[in-house]
Amino acid sequence: MSDNTIARNKSMTRFDQHDSVWLFGYGSLIFKADFPFIERRPAHIVGWSRRFWQGSHDHRGTVQAPGRVVTLIRDEGATCAGMAYLITPEVFDHLDYREKNGYLRLATDILFEDGSCTEGLIYIATEENAAFLGPAPECDIARQIAGAEGPSGRNADYLLGLAVALRELGKDDPHVFEIERHLQLLGEMNAEKDKDAT
Ligand code: SIN
Repeated sequence: MSDNTIARNKSMTRFDQHDSVWLFGYGSLIFKADFPFIERRPAHIVGWSRRFWQGSHDHRGTVQAPGRVVTLIRDEGATCAGMAYLITPEVFDHLDYREKNGYLRLATDILFEDGSCTEGLIYIATEENAAFLGPAPECDIARQIAGAEGPSGRNADYLLGLAVALRELGKDDPHVFEIERHLQLLGEMNAEKDKDAT
């Protein structure tokens, strides 16, 4: 089920009077920055792990065949690498719309590679939201992703785009790379089947 969070995010006025604020992206916000930003820097957050546990009914899937996109799960001691963007509060409207299926703005500490830290924003889809799908084996997640497509394109391209972006950042994420491996295996199996059928 989809879950429109635009109105709830509008009531999060914490950074509205700031000239600029850091936004930390850990999913498509790493590889698809379709918004104006002043500066961007690789960064990480602590106590969270990235998981393909959020349903996508509006971007990378449909209500009938939802895709899976990433959210953050509390994980003590873990770090999640991504990209931080310095934005102005005018950009919130665009981001709230883009992240409207279950994601809420949350203030959190963002750590930069030079050791400095600032308070900024993340968009997070918690398990309370109606579009949350929760855990599943990585091979099943890959199968679901392989079969999903929505207005923003193939769900597989979201996964592959994220994996490429993490490699470019020099960061490991066993969950993401394991799903990517299963997706590649599925592609190879389908290619074999097509060959046998001809
Ligand atoms: C993010 O990228 O930070 C949020 C999740 C997404 O849009 O993929």
